[in-house]
Amino acid sequence: MYVSHLQLVDYRSYAAARLELAPGVTTFVGSNGQGKTNLLEAIGYAATLSSHRVSTDAPLVRRGAERAVVRAASFADERRSLIEIEINPGRANRARLNRSVLPRVRDVLGTLRTVLFAPEDLALVKGDPGERRKYLDELLTLRAPRFAAVRADYERVLKQRNALLKTAAQVSGRARPDLSTLDVWDGHLAETGAALVAGRLGLVAELRPLVAKAYAQLADSGGFPELRYRDSSVAEAPESTEAVGDQGDTDVTAIAQRLRDALDRARPEELRRGVSLVGPHRDDLLLSLDEFAVKGYASQGESWSYGLSLKLSAFELLRADGEDPVLILDDVFSELDAARRQRLAQHVRDAEQVLVSAAVPEDLPSDLRGERYQVSEGTVEHV
Ligand SMILES: Nc1ncnc2c1ncn2[C@@H]1O[C@H](COP(=O)(O)OP(=O)(O)O)[C@@H](O)[C@H]1O
Ligand SMILES: [Mg+2]
Repeated sequence: MYVSHLQLVDYRSYAAARLELAPGVTTFVGSNGQGKTNLLEAIGYAATLSSHRVSTDAPLVRRGAERAVVRAASFADERRSLIEIEINPGRANRARLNRSVLPRVRDVLGTLRTVLFAPEDLALVKGDPGERRKYLDELLTLRAPRFAAVRADYERVLKQRNALLKTAAQVSGRARPDLSTLDVWDGHLAETGAALVAGRLGLVAELRPLVAKAYAQLADSGGFPELRYRDSSVAEAPESTEAVGDQGDTDVTAIAQRLRDALDRARPEELRRGVSLVGPHRDDLLLSLDEFAVKGYASQGESWSYGLSLKLSAFELLRADGEDPVLILDDVFSELDAARRQRLAQHVRDAEQVLVSAAVPEDLPSDLRGERYQVSEGTVEHV
Protein backbone atom coordinates (compact mmCIF):
# COMPACT_ATOMS: atom_id res chain seq x y z
CA MET A 1 0.00 0.00 0.00
CA TYR A 2 1.04 3.58 -0.28
CA VAL A 3 0.05 6.99 1.01
CA SER A 4 -0.96 9.24 -1.86
CA HIS A 5 -1.89 12.42 0.00
CA LEU A 6 -1.12 13.88 3.37
CA GLN A 7 -2.74 16.98 4.75
CA LEU A 8 -2.00 18.53 8.12
CA VAL A 9 -3.75 21.32 9.97
CA ASP A 10 -2.15 22.65 13.15
CA TYR A 11 -0.11 19.51 13.54
CA ARG A 12 3.15 20.17 15.43
CA SER A 13 5.02 22.91 13.57
CA TYR A 14 2.62 22.87 10.60
CA ALA A 15 -0.23 25.38 10.49
CA ALA A 16 -1.13 23.84 7.16
CA ALA A 17 0.64 21.40 4.87
CA ARG A 18 -0.44 19.44 1.86
CA LEU A 19 1.62 16.80 0.19
CA GLU A 20 1.26 14.39 -2.68
CA LEU A 21 3.21 11.19 -2.45
CA ALA A 22 4.01 8.49 -4.94
CA PRO A 23 4.83 4.80 -4.56
CA GLY A 24 8.51 3.98 -4.42
CA VAL A 25 11.11 5.89 -2.48
CA THR A 26 10.54 9.45 -1.25
CA THR A 27 13.11 11.30 0.77
CA PHE A 28 12.69 14.35 2.98
CA VAL A 29 15.81 16.39 3.40
CA GLY A 30 16.42 19.42 5.60
CA SER A 31 18.45 20.45 8.59
CA ASN A 32 17.47 19.51 12.09
CA GLY A 33 14.34 20.99 13.57
CA GLN A 34 12.76 21.85 10.21
CA GLY A 35 9.83 19.47 10.44
CA LYS A 36 10.82 16.20 8.76
CA THR A 37 9.96 13.96 11.66
CA ASN A 38 6.70 15.85 12.23
CA LEU A 39 5.52 14.79 8.77
CA LEU A 40 6.51 11.16 9.16
CA GLU A 41 5.11 11.04 12.67
CA ALA A 42 1.75 12.25 11.35
CA ILE A 43 1.61 9.40 8.83
CA GLY A 44 2.47 6.93 11.58
CA TYR A 45 -0.27 8.47 13.71
CA ALA A 46 -2.88 7.91 11.00
CA ALA A 47 -1.92 4.24 11.06
CA THR A 48 -1.47 3.52 14.76
CA LEU A 49 -3.21 6.43 16.53
CA SER A 50 -0.06 6.99 18.46
CA SER A 51 3.21 8.82 18.07
CA HIS A 52 6.59 7.16 18.24
CA ARG A 53 7.88 10.16 20.18
CA VAL A 54 5.30 11.01 22.82
CA SER A 55 2.72 9.07 24.75
CA THR A 56 0.10 11.81 24.93
CA ASP A 57 -1.58 13.78 22.16
CA ALA A 58 -1.06 17.31 23.52
CA PRO A 59 2.40 17.89 21.96
CA LEU A 60 1.00 16.95 18.54
CA VAL A 61 -1.17 20.04 18.41
CA ARG A 62 0.54 23.19 17.21
CA ARG A 63 1.33 25.51 20.08
CA GLY A 64 -1.54 27.94 20.48
CA ALA A 65 -3.99 25.87 18.44
CA GLU A 66 -6.90 23.93 19.86
CA ARG A 67 -6.89 20.84 17.73
CA ALA A 68 -4.89 19.20 15.01
CA VAL A 69 -6.14 17.43 11.92
CA VAL A 70 -4.33 14.67 10.05
CA ARG A 71 -5.72 13.54 6.70
CA ALA A 72 -4.11 10.68 4.85
CA ALA A 73 -5.28 9.10 1.64
CA SER A 74 -3.86 5.72 0.80
CA PHE A 75 -4.16 3.08 -1.86
CA ALA A 76 -4.19 -0.61 -1.10
CA ASP A 77 -4.86 -2.97 -3.95
CA GLU A 78 -6.08 0.02 -5.98
CA ARG A 79 -8.70 0.77 -3.33
CA ARG A 80 -8.50 4.28 -2.02
CA SER A 81 -9.08 5.04 1.67
CA LEU A 82 -9.25 8.44 3.25
CA ILE A 83 -8.51 8.68 6.95
CA GLU A 84 -9.27 11.91 8.80
CA ILE A 85 -8.39 12.29 12.44
CA GLU A 86 -9.10 15.25 14.63
CA ILE A 87 -6.82 15.36 17.64
CA ASN A 88 -8.47 17.10 20.59
CA PRO A 89 -6.21 16.95 23.64
CA GLY A 90 -8.18 16.59 26.82
CA ARG A 91 -11.32 15.68 24.87
CA ALA A 92 -12.30 12.77 22.68
CA ASN A 93 -10.57 12.58 19.32
CA ARG A 94 -12.69 12.04 16.26
CA ALA A 95 -12.12 10.03 13.13
CA ARG A 96 -13.70 9.69 9.73
CA LEU A 97 -13.06 7.00 7.21
CA ASN A 98 -14.03 7.76 3.62
CA ARG A 99 -16.02 10.75 4.89
CA SER A 100 -18.10 8.70 7.32
CA VAL A 101 -17.78 9.41 11.02
CA LEU A 102 -16.57 6.32 12.85
CA PRO A 103 -18.34 5.32 16.06
CA ARG A 104 -14.98 4.85 17.73
CA VAL A 105 -11.69 6.40 16.71
CA ARG A 106 -9.96 3.05 17.05
CA ASP A 107 -12.10 1.70 14.20
CA VAL A 108 -9.63 3.43 11.93
CA LEU A 109 -6.87 0.99 12.93
CA GLY A 110 -5.88 -1.49 10.27
CA THR A 111 -6.79 0.77 7.35
CA LEU A 112 -3.35 2.27 6.88
CA ARG A 113 -0.45 0.07 7.83
CA THR A 114 2.97 1.55 8.48
CA VAL A 115 6.21 0.37 9.97
CA LEU A 116 8.27 3.24 11.30
CA PHE A 117 11.86 3.10 12.40
CA ALA A 118 13.50 6.08 14.10
CA PRO A 119 16.36 6.79 16.49
CA GLU A 120 13.81 6.69 19.32
CA ASP A 121 13.42 2.99 18.57
CA LEU A 122 16.72 2.26 20.22
CA ALA A 123 14.55 2.33 23.33
CA LEU A 124 12.86 -0.75 21.93
CA VAL A 125 16.07 -2.60 22.65
CA LYS A 126 17.48 -0.66 25.57
CA GLY A 127 14.42 0.82 27.24
CA ASP A 128 11.64 -0.32 29.52
CA PRO A 129 9.40 -3.34 28.89
CA GLY A 130 6.60 -0.92 27.96
CA GLU A 131 8.41 -0.10 24.71
CA ARG A 132 8.47 -3.72 23.68
CA ARG A 133 4.87 -4.31 24.70
CA LYS A 134 3.92 -1.36 22.52
CA TYR A 135 5.85 -2.85 19.62
CA LEU A 136 4.03 -6.17 19.95
CA ASP A 137 0.60 -4.65 20.54
CA GLU A 138 0.80 -2.18 17.68
CA LEU A 139 1.85 -4.90 15.29
CA LEU A 140 -0.84 -7.21 16.59
CA THR A 141 -3.47 -4.52 16.04
CA LEU A 142 -2.25 -3.64 12.56
CA ARG A 143 -2.52 -7.27 11.55
CA ALA A 144 -5.78 -8.01 13.37
CA PRO A 145 -7.75 -4.86 14.24
CA ARG A 146 -9.95 -6.78 16.69
CA PHE A 147 -7.03 -6.53 19.11
CA ALA A 148 -7.74 -2.81 19.43
CA ALA A 149 -10.90 -3.78 21.32
CA VAL A 150 -9.06 -6.43 23.32
CA ARG A 151 -6.45 -3.88 24.38
CA ALA A 152 -9.06 -1.27 25.26
CA ASP A 153 -11.03 -3.80 27.32
CA TYR A 154 -7.90 -4.88 29.13
CA GLU A 155 -6.90 -1.29 29.92
CA ARG A 156 -10.36 -0.63 31.31
CA VAL A 157 -10.36 -3.76 33.48
CA LEU A 158 -6.87 -2.99 34.74
CA LYS A 159 -7.82 0.53 35.70
CA GLN A 160 -10.90 -0.62 37.60
CA ARG A 161 -9.02 -3.39 39.32
CA ASN A 162 -6.18 -1.09 40.32
CA ALA A 163 -8.64 1.42 41.76
CA LEU A 164 -10.20 -1.35 43.81
CA LEU A 165 -6.82 -2.62 45.03
CA LYS A 166 -5.75 0.86 45.92
CA THR A 167 -8.83 1.41 48.06
CA ALA A 168 -8.33 -1.99 49.70
CA ALA A 169 -4.67 -1.25 50.37
CA GLN A 170 -5.53 2.01 52.05
CA VAL A 171 -7.82 0.30 54.51
CA SER A 172 -5.84 -1.47 57.17
CA GLY A 173 -6.15 -5.18 57.97
CA ARG A 174 -9.32 -5.61 59.99
CA ALA A 175 -11.51 -3.12 58.17
CA ARG A 176 -10.72 -4.73 54.81
CA PRO A 177 -13.64 -4.38 52.42
CA ASP A 178 -15.52 -7.24 50.89
CA LEU A 179 -13.20 -8.89 48.40
CA SER A 180 -15.81 -10.61 46.30
CA THR A 181 -15.82 -7.68 43.86
CA LEU A 182 -12.12 -8.27 43.40
CA ASP A 183 -12.82 -11.89 42.51
CA VAL A 184 -15.06 -10.67 39.72
CA TRP A 185 -12.36 -8.36 38.39
CA ASP A 186 -9.80 -11.16 38.60
CA GLY A 187 -12.02 -13.10 36.23
CA HIS A 188 -12.26 -10.14 33.81
CA LEU A 189 -8.53 -9.55 33.95
CA ALA A 190 -7.76 -13.22 33.30
CA GLU A 191 -10.17 -13.37 30.40
CA THR A 192 -9.21 -10.21 28.51
CA GLY A 193 -5.57 -10.61 29.52
CA ALA A 194 -5.46 -14.14 28.13
CA ALA A 195 -6.67 -12.98 24.72
CA LEU A 196 -3.91 -10.40 24.60
CA VAL A 197 -1.21 -12.78 25.83
CA ALA A 198 -2.27 -15.44 23.33
CA GLY A 199 -2.03 -12.90 20.53
CA ARG A 200 1.42 -11.79 21.63
CA LEU A 201 2.71 -15.36 22.02
CA GLY A 202 1.57 -16.25 18.53
CA LEU A 203 3.17 -13.10 17.18
CA VAL A 204 6.49 -13.75 18.91
CA ALA A 205 6.56 -17.25 17.45
CA GLU A 206 6.07 -15.80 13.97
CA LEU A 207 8.65 -13.08 14.52
CA ARG A 208 11.40 -15.34 15.83
CA PRO A 209 12.69 -16.71 12.50
CA LEU A 210 12.19 -13.37 10.74
CA VAL A 211 14.26 -11.47 13.28
CA ALA A 212 17.04 -14.04 13.01
CA LYS A 213 17.06 -13.65 9.24
CA ALA A 214 16.93 -9.85 9.26
CA TYR A 215 19.68 -9.65 11.85
CA ALA A 216 21.94 -11.97 9.85
CA GLN A 217 21.46 -9.72 6.83
CA LEU A 218 22.05 -6.44 8.63
CA ALA A 219 24.79 -7.10 11.12
CA ASP A 220 28.10 -8.51 10.09
CA SER A 221 29.26 -9.37 13.57
CA GLY A 222 27.34 -12.62 13.59
CA GLY A 223 25.44 -13.34 16.75
CA PHE A 224 22.14 -15.13 16.99
CA PRO A 225 19.12 -13.15 18.18
CA GLU A 226 16.50 -14.87 20.28
CA LEU A 227 13.10 -13.53 21.35
CA ARG A 228 11.47 -14.81 24.48
CA TYR A 229 8.14 -13.72 25.88
CA ARG A 230 8.28 -13.23 29.63
CA ASP A 231 4.89 -13.96 31.02
CA SER A 232 4.32 -12.46 34.47
CA SER A 233 1.86 -15.22 35.29
CA VAL A 234 4.48 -17.91 34.94
CA ALA A 235 6.61 -18.49 37.99
CA GLU A 236 10.09 -18.96 36.63
CA ALA A 237 13.70 -18.80 37.63
CA PRO A 238 15.04 -15.34 36.72
CA GLU A 239 17.82 -16.80 34.62
CA SER A 240 15.64 -19.24 32.74
CA THR A 241 16.23 -19.07 29.02
CA GLU A 242 13.32 -21.21 28.03
CA ALA A 243 10.69 -19.48 25.94
CA VAL A 244 7.28 -19.41 27.57
CA GLY A 245 5.64 -20.22 24.27
CA ASP A 246 7.69 -23.39 24.14
CA GLN A 247 7.07 -24.50 27.68
CA GLY A 248 3.56 -23.44 28.54
CA ASP A 249 0.24 -23.83 26.87
CA THR A 250 -0.55 -21.04 24.42
CA ASP A 251 -4.24 -21.82 24.24
CA VAL A 252 -6.43 -18.94 25.50
CA THR A 253 -8.31 -21.04 28.05
CA ALA A 254 -5.08 -22.38 29.50
CA ILE A 255 -3.58 -18.89 29.67
CA ALA A 256 -6.67 -17.56 31.43
CA GLN A 257 -6.38 -20.34 34.00
CA ARG A 258 -2.68 -19.57 34.45
CA LEU A 259 -3.54 -15.92 35.02
CA ARG A 260 -6.23 -16.78 37.57
CA ASP A 261 -3.79 -19.00 39.47
CA ALA A 262 -1.13 -16.31 39.40
CA LEU A 263 -3.64 -13.72 40.64
CA ASP A 264 -4.51 -16.00 43.54
CA ARG A 265 -0.84 -16.31 44.47
CA ALA A 266 -0.25 -12.59 44.08
CA ARG A 267 -3.28 -11.40 46.01
CA PRO A 268 -1.66 -10.75 49.42
CA GLU A 269 1.13 -8.78 47.75
CA GLU A 270 -1.33 -6.92 45.52
CA LEU A 271 -3.45 -5.95 48.51
CA ARG A 272 -0.36 -4.71 50.26
CA ARG A 273 0.87 -2.63 47.32
CA GLY A 274 -2.43 -1.63 45.81
CA VAL A 275 -1.61 -2.46 42.17
CA SER A 276 -2.08 -5.35 39.76
CA LEU A 277 1.15 -7.32 39.66
CA VAL A 278 0.22 -9.98 37.16
CA GLY A 279 -1.01 -9.72 33.60
CA PRO A 280 0.11 -8.65 30.13
CA HIS A 281 0.80 -5.11 31.40
CA ARG A 282 3.69 -6.62 33.39
CA ASP A 283 5.05 -8.89 30.66
CA ASP A 284 8.11 -8.30 28.54
CA LEU A 285 9.72 -9.40 25.35
CA LEU A 286 13.22 -10.50 26.26
CA LEU A 287 15.79 -9.93 23.56
CA SER A 288 19.05 -11.75 23.58
CA LEU A 289 22.03 -12.17 21.35
CA ASP A 290 23.94 -15.41 21.68
CA GLU A 291 22.07 -15.97 24.91
CA PHE A 292 23.08 -12.67 26.47
CA ALA A 293 20.45 -10.05 27.16
CA VAL A 294 20.82 -7.29 24.59
CA LYS A 295 20.02 -4.75 27.24
CA GLY A 296 23.28 -4.34 29.08
CA TYR A 297 25.47 -6.50 26.83
CA ALA A 298 25.06 -5.44 23.23
CA SER A 299 27.17 -2.75 21.61
CA GLN A 300 25.58 0.34 20.12
CA GLY A 301 25.90 -1.13 16.61
CA GLU A 302 24.37 -4.42 17.66
CA SER A 303 21.52 -2.64 19.40
CA TRP A 304 20.79 -0.66 16.24
CA SER A 305 20.82 -3.78 14.11
CA TYR A 306 18.55 -5.50 16.59
CA GLY A 307 16.02 -2.67 16.71
CA LEU A 308 16.04 -2.42 12.95
CA SER A 309 15.61 -6.19 12.64
CA LEU A 310 12.52 -6.05 14.84
CA LYS A 311 11.01 -3.37 12.60
CA LEU A 312 11.96 -5.05 9.34
CA SER A 313 10.45 -8.27 10.65
CA ALA A 314 7.24 -6.40 11.35
CA PHE A 315 7.39 -5.24 7.74
CA GLU A 316 7.90 -8.80 6.50
CA LEU A 317 4.98 -10.13 8.52
CA LEU A 318 2.61 -7.48 7.23
CA ARG A 319 3.89 -8.04 3.71
CA ALA A 320 3.24 -11.77 4.07
CA ASP A 321 -0.36 -10.90 5.00
CA GLY A 322 -0.72 -9.71 1.43
CA GLU A 323 0.03 -6.00 1.30
CA ASP A 324 3.27 -4.09 1.83
CA PRO A 325 2.97 -1.66 4.71
CA VAL A 326 4.37 1.82 4.19
CA LEU A 327 7.95 1.74 5.43
CA ILE A 328 9.08 4.90 7.22
CA LEU A 329 12.75 5.41 8.04
CA ASP A 330 13.17 8.59 10.04
CA ASP A 331 16.71 9.82 10.29
CA VAL A 332 18.24 6.39 10.64
CA PHE A 333 20.88 6.40 7.95
CA SER A 334 23.07 8.89 9.79
CA GLU A 335 23.24 6.43 12.67
CA LEU A 336 24.51 3.55 10.58
CA ASP A 337 27.96 2.89 9.18
CA ALA A 338 28.41 2.69 5.40
CA ALA A 339 28.13 -1.10 5.23
CA ARG A 340 24.91 -1.19 7.25
CA ARG A 341 23.49 1.66 5.18
CA GLN A 342 24.02 -0.30 2.00
CA ARG A 343 22.55 -3.45 3.45
CA LEU A 344 19.50 -1.61 4.75
CA ALA A 345 19.01 0.08 1.38
CA GLN A 346 19.14 -3.27 -0.40
CA HIS A 347 16.70 -4.69 2.06
CA VAL A 348 14.03 -1.99 1.70
CA ARG A 349 14.38 -0.93 -1.93
CA ASP A 350 11.59 -3.11 -3.25
CA ALA A 351 8.99 -2.08 -0.66
CA GLU A 352 5.94 -0.54 -2.30
CA GLN A 353 6.54 2.79 -0.56
CA VAL A 354 9.50 3.92 1.52
CA LEU A 355 9.54 7.34 3.18
CA VAL A 356 12.96 8.40 4.34
CA SER A 357 14.26 11.47 6.13
CA ALA A 358 17.81 12.72 6.48
CA ALA A 359 19.45 15.94 7.61
CA VAL A 360 22.32 15.41 5.21
CA PRO A 361 21.55 13.96 1.75
CA GLU A 362 25.02 12.41 1.61
CA ASP A 363 23.95 10.02 4.36
CA LEU A 364 21.46 8.41 2.00
CA PRO A 365 22.65 5.48 -0.08
CA SER A 366 22.67 6.63 -3.70
CA ASP A 367 20.20 4.00 -4.83
CA LEU A 368 17.64 5.12 -2.26
CA ARG A 369 16.94 8.65 -3.32
CA GLY A 370 13.70 8.63 -5.24
CA GLU A 371 11.45 11.67 -5.12
CA ARG A 372 12.99 14.40 -3.06
CA TYR A 373 11.38 16.99 -0.80
CA GLN A 374 13.18 19.83 0.89
CA VAL A 375 11.79 20.59 4.33
CA SER A 376 12.61 23.96 5.74
CA GLU A 377 10.91 25.92 8.49
CA GLY A 378 7.73 23.97 8.15
CA THR A 379 7.43 24.29 4.39
CA VAL A 380 7.73 21.23 2.21
CA GLU A 381 8.87 21.70 -1.35
CA HIS A 382 9.31 19.17 -4.08
CA VAL A 383 12.79 19.46 -5.58
N1 LIG B 1 3.24 21.27 19.14
C1 LIG B 1 4.13 22.01 18.46
N2 LIG B 1 3.84 23.27 18.08
C2 LIG B 1 4.72 24.01 17.39
N3 LIG B 1 5.94 23.57 17.03
C3 LIG B 1 6.29 22.33 17.38
C4 LIG B 1 5.40 21.48 18.12
N4 LIG B 1 6.02 20.31 18.33
C5 LIG B 1 7.23 20.41 17.77
N5 LIG B 1 7.40 21.62 17.18
C6 LIG B 1 8.57 22.12 16.49
O1 LIG B 1 8.88 21.25 15.41
C7 LIG B 1 10.27 21.30 15.20
C8 LIG B 1 10.88 19.94 15.13
O2 LIG B 1 10.42 19.31 14.02
P1 LIG B 1 10.97 17.88 13.63
O3 LIG B 1 10.02 17.36 12.64
O4 LIG B 1 11.25 17.07 14.83
O5 LIG B 1 12.34 18.29 12.95
P2 LIG B 1 13.34 17.42 12.09
O6 LIG B 1 13.35 18.05 10.73
O7 LIG B 1 14.66 17.57 12.79
O8 LIG B 1 12.85 16.03 12.08
C9 LIG B 1 10.89 22.04 16.34
O9 LIG B 1 11.25 23.30 15.92
C10 LIG B 1 9.79 22.09 17.36
O10 LIG B 1 9.87 23.24 18.16
MG1 LIG C 1 13.80 14.37 12.91
